Amino acid sequence: MESAEIARRFLRFFEERGHKIVPSASLIAEDPTLLLVNAGMVPFKPYFLGQRRPPGSRLATAQKCVRTPDIEEVGKTTRHATFFQMLGNFSFGDYFKAEVIPFAWELLTRSESDGGFGFPEDRLWATVYLEDDEGYDIWRNKVGLPAERIQRRGLEDNYWHMGVPGPGGPCSEIYYDRGPEYGREGGPIADEDRYLEVWNLVFMQYQLSQVRSKVDFDIAGDLPSKNIDTGMGLERMAAILQGVDNIYEIDTTYKILDKAAELTGTRYGHDPRTDVNLRVIADHVRTGTMLVADGVMPGNEGRGYVLRRILRRSVRNLRLLGSGDERHMHTLTDVAIGVMAEQYPELKADAPQIHGVIDAEEASFLGTLRTGTAIFDVAVEETKRSSHHAISGAQAFQLHDTYGFPIDLTLEMASEQGLKVDEEGFRRLMKEQRERAKADSAAKKTGNADISVFGELLEKAGKVEFLGYDEIESDTSVIGVLVDGVPVPAAGAGSTVEVVLGRTPFYAEGGGQLADQGVIRTAGAEVEIVDVQTPLAGLVVHRGKVRSGEIKVGDEARAEIDLERRRAISRSHSATHLVHRGFKNALGESAAQAGSENSPGRFRFDFTAAGAVPPSVLRDVEDEVNAVLINDLKVNAFYTSQAEARAMGALAMFGEKYGDEVRVVEIGDYSRELCGGTHVHSSGQLGLVKVLGEQSVGAGVRRVEALVGIDAFRFLARESLLVAQLTEQLKVRREELPERIEGIVTRLRAAEKDLDKIRSAQVLQVAGELAAQARDLAGVSAVTHRAPDGTTADDLRKLALDVRGRFPADRPAVIVIAGVPSDRPVVVAAVNEAGRERGLKAGRLVGVAAKALGGGGGGKDDVAQGGGTRPDAIDDALRQVEQAVTEQLG
Ligand code: ALA
Repeated sequence: MESAEIARRFLRFFEERGHKIVPSASLIAEDPTLLLVNAGMVPFKPYFLGQRRPPGSRLATAQKCVRTPDIEEVGKTTRHATFFQMLGNFSFGDYFKAEVIPFAWELLTRSESDGGFGFPEDRLWATVYLEDDEGYDIWRNKVGLPAERIQRRGLEDNYWHMGVPGPGGPCSEIYYDRGPEYGREGGPIADEDRYLEVWNLVFMQYQLSQVRSKVDFDIAGDLPSKNIDTGMGLERMAAILQGVDNIYEIDTTYKILDKAAELTGTRYGHDPRTDVNLRVIADHVRTGTMLVADGVMPGNEGRGYVLRRILRRSVRNLRLLGSGDERHMHTLTDVAIGVMAEQYPELKADAPQIHGVIDAEEASFLGTLRTGTAIFDVAVEETKRSSHHAISGAQAFQLHDTYGFPIDLTLEMASEQGLKVDEEGFRRLMKEQRERAKADSAAKKTGNADISVFGELLEKAGKVEFLGYDEIESDTSVIGVLVDGVPVPAAGAGSTVEVVLGRTPFYAEGGGQLADQGVIRTAGAEVEIVDVQTPLAGLVVHRGKVRSGEIKVGDEARAEIDLERRRAISRSHSATHLVHRGFKNALGESAAQAGSENSPGRFRFDFTAAGAVPPSVLRDVEDEVNAVLINDLKVNAFYTSQAEARAMGALAMFGEKYGDEVRVVEIGDYSRELCGGTHVHSSGQLGLVKVLGEQSVGAGVRRVEALVGIDAFRFLARESLLVAQLTEQLKVRREELPERIEGIVTRLRAAEKDLDKIRSAQVLQVAGELAAQARDLAGVSAVTHRAPDGTTADDLRKLALDVRGRFPADRPAVIVIAGVPSDRPVVVAAVNEAGRERGLKAGRLVGVAAKALGGGGGGKDDVAQGGGTRPDAIDDALRQVEQAVTEQLG
């Protein structure tokens, strides 16, 4: 049975039993306590806790999940996967144990032809929590499962919670007996490889306040109602129903594995090491694809780091299979998209952007590996030579800091060499670096509030309503005031504060649009607002300074935004939409937005493109966009369903996942995008858009910067003035400027070359004279000379060598020339072979001179160069060198 069919059957079964089917939420968890969704119930946590009302008392989902704590185990065991889908049915205060257990039993045992999964009844086992007599009784008497196939287990196995404060409760698990060839008799308590867990039924009824470990937690009390949360791993079911050994061989992963084997010329099932590499690739490529599709971007922190690690491990495992510098991720991602698209059709439409991100990460990592591996090899050699067993923390840190080697890669590569890594030393250096970085960005935007403080405020404030599409001033109230991240009842004049309002016209930075600024006034206080952020979805925090009076929680308030700034930012935002459409028209639909920043008067727009965008295309786009301005198209914003928006061809900023209802902004019939930002009313209000240029910001991503409105006009006016000045100075017409300037530059270059030649000739002219004037020091010809100021270091060297060449081979000679090329003295020494036989060394002589000049230097015996900081000491330095020659000759 195909994976997609397993999901369909599961959902249909519960739909027929009154459940509303909810589409999978994004892998990016809204919950601030989690990085990624790691269980089917995560998106429903607020429903269990009674904070929000579910869209129905019975729901069912197939939820995308990512778990990475066991990432090292992937491919080694046959059970660990980083991406999986959890099928689940949920009851919020509706049915409980007595219904859910029979539901599960029915779906598992009903024949395949009758819409079930067709498990033989005698191969199923159940477990219940030690004290759960009720659960036991339902299995025994309502389902009729024989007593010997019901086992009681403790907290470790039969109690479920999120690992963080939240809902929890005892659970009952259902196991499938794979048969004696997989292990011992005796049920799940005896062998969890033979008896595979297929479904976990959780009886969510308590609210946990403290969670110290799986078995150590505090129960704060009962949840508002008794609920059901179940989880069936789709991949594990697929392995059973497809009759394969493990989850890397099911329909949605095997094709990737197979392709990886084909690309690397390896075979699965012949060598255990190769098998592990292939399984890691199959698992990770699929996970990476799903994460990127949900808008995670590779980075060095949080979920960005999870993704980067997964992608880099894929690339590295490909290399371990001998793929070298070849790039396979594109092909493998294609396969992953193909196998997952039946369940997630949007993957097909998003494919160009998914490829853009993954290809770029592969390219940058291959580059990293090339340089870093050489450094790593040196570190290994040094470590082994000094008979240490661990690569030093400093080396690991350098690999990380300079070459982008994640620490786990260093650990992995070290262990392949039989070495450890001084992880503690590494972490200490990382911490020091972080502290330096923190000190550097003192006025950091995220402030220093603990995120849990915001969580509490959000609970209190509810979702803060944004009024700023229609209003620039609003009546509201003060819900919370923070000083230094700590909630306070009031804050007085001079305090830097964060203010939470019940509703607000202030736009919080987001979707590439910078925050509004303005003032919040209460009866007694005035607060100037400089930044607005959403630390948690739904919560708006205004940052600023109390100018006068005292702002108090509970105050009535009037919030007023700086209209000029808002208008300028809105112009930039509308311009960004136009430019986005313009690039798509010029370069094709694959030119997708990868980021933007809309500030007053100017904006930055990043998009995916294979290479540099030719100047002619930039001009065309600029031309087209300005034509749209002149046509003064009306800007219209409206809400619609996600599906409807897609059908209308609205562009979504890649990775942005909206809820059911989305906001669409259209500019005439020219551009249509999903967007939560603020805009002008008609395109004519932009006035003018001037594209400044484009550049690369990472593999596959280009950036254009542009000016809008009066800023664009001023820029052009300045340019025009500049051209006028040039025509005036060069006495030519505007159109002749480029030719004239090119002519001047060419002639100037030629003249400079001639001048160089003349100067060298002049310098060398004195060579003969210098050789003739050599002094005899104990049978050695010695020349010391100060060249005219401005003689280049290169010429000093040439002169020294030229003079040296003028002595016969059997005549020992030493030449020391000093000069001041610009502002620092330089000294060059040269000794011929006969001189070296007398024991003279150029390097040592330069050392003496450089020291006298207040610097250092040295080099080889035949010729050496050094320098210092004191031009006034040159004569003295040359005297000291002569003395040193005499001494060395003894
Ligand atoms: N929430 C339960 C689990 O993840 C069903 O196993």
